Amino acid sequence: MRKKMVQDFQAMKSKGEKITFLTSYDFPTAQFAEEAGIDMLLVGDSLGMCVYGYPGTEPVVMDQMIFHTEAVRRGAPNTFIIGDMPFLSYQVSCEKAVENAGRFIKETGCDAIKLEGGIRVVDRIKAIVEAGVVVMGHIGLTPQSSGQLGGHKAQGRTAEAAEAVVADAYAVQEAGAQMILLEAIPPEVGKYITENLSIPVLSIGAGMYCDGQLLIVSDMIGQFQAFKPKFVKRFGDVAGECINAMKAYHQEVKEGNFPTKDYCYPMIEGEANKFLEIMEQKKRA
Ligand code: KIV
Repeated sequence: MRKKMVQDFQAMKSKGEKITFLTSYDFPTAQFAEEAGIDMLLVGDSLGMCVYGYPGTEPVVMDQMIFHTEAVRRGAPNTFIIGDMPFLSYQVSCEKAVENAGRFIKETGCDAIKLEGGIRVVDRIKAIVEAGVVVMGHIGLTPQSSGQLGGHKAQGRTAEAAEAVVADAYAVQEAGAQMILLEAIPPEVGKYITENLSIPVLSIGAGMYCDGQLLIVSDMIGQFQAFKPKFVKRFGDVAGECINAMKAYHQEVKEGNFPTKDYCYPMIEGEANKFLEIMEQKKRA
């Protein structure tokens, strides 16, 4: 499979072909996603909650993102991969933003970076693009600033608030981002932005009219259990499968039914008796 590039996603938008997009945090999941033909992967800072069990994304640091993105790159060598800039990796200054975006590209071999914010991060987007890095913007519900938004709440639900989301979308495109992600906004607003922006518009909870859809893999496969946002559809029950497998293992070990001979390494023919004789002699000596 040839790796798709940003130009391919642009062509998919023009043709009306939907883009599939999932998060991935580790090597095996990245392998599964590539095998399933997923168009692009995000190594999201949502790994803070889904992998590390933090209450939010704020504690995640650059080094964690680098390690996980490297693993995902190894698992999905032919898939377009986006590294997610964690909290305080770009907010402090344009220099820091370029340095950290550069780390993603240099140290992990990923294809693009994503950062949160609209009008207020325009200078950061411009600086990163100027350095030659493909940028995906992220507006609407932006988890890194959820405190200011009053929690993990849908955005753009009044006409005035929707107008502000649209202004953010235009600002991100004008700053040079080559893709944009809309999170938790009504479908009418997602549709307007998708029809009026020239760059591919991805949705996570922004409705059916966008150019593509993103879900957090741990939600989608039924692994993450702490809460389920409205926009999440569970396509599998990995938690249930894991718990059932672990219960079966627990029971078989307790009952002495695992491991049977089939799961043991046999000794070379004739060596078992020899071994017992040697040990017996040693005991007597
Ligand atoms: O970190 C992440 O997975 C994200 C999504 C919530 C969009 O940024």
